[in-house]
Amino acid sequence: MEQDLFRLKEEAVQALQDITAASELEPFRVKYLGRKGGSLTGIMRQLAQVPKEDRPRLGQLANTVKKEVTSLFEQKKEQLSAEKGTEVSAALDVSLPGRRLPRGKLHPVTQVMEEICSIFEGLGFAIAEGPDVETDHYNFEALNIPKHHPARDMHDTFYVSDSILLRTHTSPMQARIMEKHDPPLRYIAPGKVYRCDSDITHTPMFVQVEGFLVDRKVSFADLKGVLTSFLHRMFSDDLSVRFRPSFFPFTEPSAEVDIACVICGGKGCRVCKQTGWIEILGAGLIDPEVMKMVGYDPDEYSGFAFGLGVERIAMLKYGINDIRLYYENDLRFLSQF
Ligand code: PHE
Repeated sequence: MEQDLFRLKEEAVQALQDITAASELEPFRVKYLGRKGGSLTGIMRQLAQVPKEDRPRLGQLANTVKKEVTSLFEQKKEQLSAEKGTEVSAALDVSLPGRRLPRGKLHPVTQVMEEICSIFEGLGFAIAEGPDVETDHYNFEALNIPKHHPARDMHDTFYVSDSILLRTHTSPMQARIMEKHDPPLRYIAPGKVYRCDSDITHTPMFVQVEGFLVDRKVSFADLKGVLTSFLHRMFSDDLSVRFRPSFFPFTEPSAEVDIACVICGGKGCRVCKQTGWIEILGAGLIDPEVMKMVGYDPDEYSGFAFGLGVERIAMLKYGINDIRLYYENDLRFLSQF
């Protein structure tokens, strides 16, 4: 039995030395020191069978071996947990630069919309927003487009019910704001608009920025001045701008505004259909009928209004030839802006 104890001690010491990971500790403890079936415990049980006179000596020896193995085991345990601490700090090199999280960006249409708004804010316009779900009254009636007016055909309206619809333009904001406030007014109203239309230059939802100004003695020259200086700031100072007669039921006179094609510089190309010009917005002096409907006296006040398509402007600014790219949400496209 004495031999057994010495052999076991040697074996245990060797086994402890070979341990390199904390996960090996528990199997060692069970094998040598475990209460049930541990080798040392097993040997101690045999004490009952040794001759009486040898028992105290052997018992003491067994206890000493057990204490030694136990204390070596505890030492190993501490050593391993201390090493674990240094292992972690070795893996974590605090001098390395941090890993950057991928940064999100604003959608290109939002970026251009914000740029448009900030240019007009610089010109003294305030910003207002209105509902996407609009009434027939504000979208049409209040803008001098009664039922059965042919201009309604141009709008390809999404109806929610007979009198509720998705706004087809931001012009309802003219009526909403004028109804609530007295002149002088200088507002822009950016927002989503909806038309049942889809091809390379149309999406069923797009973004417009409406703008209008009402005061005494506002003339077409004021409209030309404001829009020209906006377009020069948006594109470049030497950009050619032209006003072409047009028709809108809520403005009189009305104009469509073209800029020299930014792709070919006015020489003529596919994008401008060889004309050298690209239409960019609708505008005009606010129709006296619209003024009367919100309770303004058209003899006292006059004003101008304009509406521009944000995707259109962004396409020209960035040279994009298909409007649908904005809404396919392909990150390879979106992350370029
Ligand atoms: N609301 C018109 C459209 O969507 C644009 C416009 C606004 C025209 C204001 C004149 C004045 O086509």
